[in-house]
Amino acid sequence: MPNLPTELRPLEELRERHSSKWRRFNRDVLPMHVAEMDYEIAPGIKSLIIDFVTRSDLGYLGPIPELGEAFTGFAKRHWNWAVAPTDVRLATDVGVGAVEILRAAGAKGDTVVINSPVYHSFYEWIKEAGMQVVDAPLIREKVGGPTAEEPDSFEKPVTLWRLDIDAIEKAFKAGAKFFLMCNPQNPVGRMHTHNELRQVAALAAKYGVLVISDEIHAPMAYPGETFTPYLAVSDEAKQTGVIVTAASKTFNLAGLKASIIVTQSDEVRAKLAKLPEAMHWRSSLIGAFAMAEAFENGDAWLKGTMMTLADSRKLLAAEIAEKLPTVDFHLPENGYLAWLDLSSLNLGDKPAALLLAKEKVSFVPGDEHGEAYGQFVRINFACRPASIRAAIDKIANQAAKAARK
Ligand SMILES: Cc1ncc(COP(=O)(O)O)c(C=O)c1O
Repeated sequence: MPNLPTELRPLEELRERHSSKWRRFNRDVLPMHVAEMDYEIAPGIKSLIIDFVTRSDLGYLGPIPELGEAFTGFAKRHWNWAVAPTDVRLATDVGVGAVEILRAAGAKGDTVVINSPVYHSFYEWIKEAGMQVVDAPLIREKVGGPTAEEPDSFEKPVTLWRLDIDAIEKAFKAGAKFFLMCNPQNPVGRMHTHNELRQVAALAAKYGVLVISDEIHAPMAYPGETFTPYLAVSDEAKQTGVIVTAASKTFNLAGLKASIIVTQSDEVRAKLAKLPEAMHWRSSLIGAFAMAEAFENGDAWLKGTMMTLADSRKLLAAEIAEKLPTVDFHLPENGYLAWLDLSSLNLGDKPAALLLAKEKVSFVPGDEHGEAYGQFVRINFACRPASIRAAIDKIANQAAKAARK
């Protein structure tokens, strides 16, 4: 049996939380949708917040050299990536950072390439900037299993979602101004490879595209998997890219509002010259200092959380294999979101809506990640093991009903 955590708060206590996860739907709904974790935050961050509040230290955010230093150390330790503290600047959150970058470096009507299925807010951010989405969908393929060379292999093929470099080039060639890339990719849990990112950088340089790489999930790689920061792959990447990221996803601090923007070339800094100065002051004091604390001292907590998540991921896979064997599921390489193809279950046009109405369980509907994905749901498994089991039971219950019809 996986070694699952016992220190999680009871469900009834979690239901008293004030965040969107616990308030968006009625109390009787099991929330498996928004990307928040049910775990306790890191003790150092908890003490920092208590300390700020105790001292009524809640004014405007001023200079925070701790943050650039902390991210520099984190990037070096985790990805062997050299960042200078001056490469880092603050923004309110990743969404605001991305929208402000689009506004600063582009104009209404510009086109922005994305790769569906992708984090649903990308569509909103592009709309907010008055720009147009151009989709270069990920390629979905089966890898492993019997091949022409090894027809007798017992290995089960697994689903892999990866960047379609040819489709990206086509979109760049057609005049795209930006590429809003999700690395690691929510909802499929894919970390784009060094080789793929180098190809993206070469194309971005060739066609004059600015790559905005959203790396908010980056620190949550599972053992054996490698995350590569876009700016680390080549000089072309540095000359074409900007990273937006935060500690909020990994350290469960989304409500604190703070993120960073990282640039490593004069070319990109010039493109972003119009970024509003005020973005720094528009992040939260506690959020910014909590982020610095997370990057500086959060490694031990992160390691423990990744062990818990690895067990949770294993449990999810076992539950699906046992109760939903026809559902296409692959282990995410990163993070606590999983992407389930329910099309074999015949749950109608809107499986997520059906499951919410009939089973009182909330997933993020697949079609929010791109029109073609209506038969998918995104599940958040950073929760109590009992919630994972219950969520899968609820899908299985509707599948059994559909099969009896
Ligand atoms: C890829 C991605 N980017 C950004 C965000 C949200 O970040 P923020 O709250 O800082 O805007 C999320 C949240 O789940 C996400 O998955």
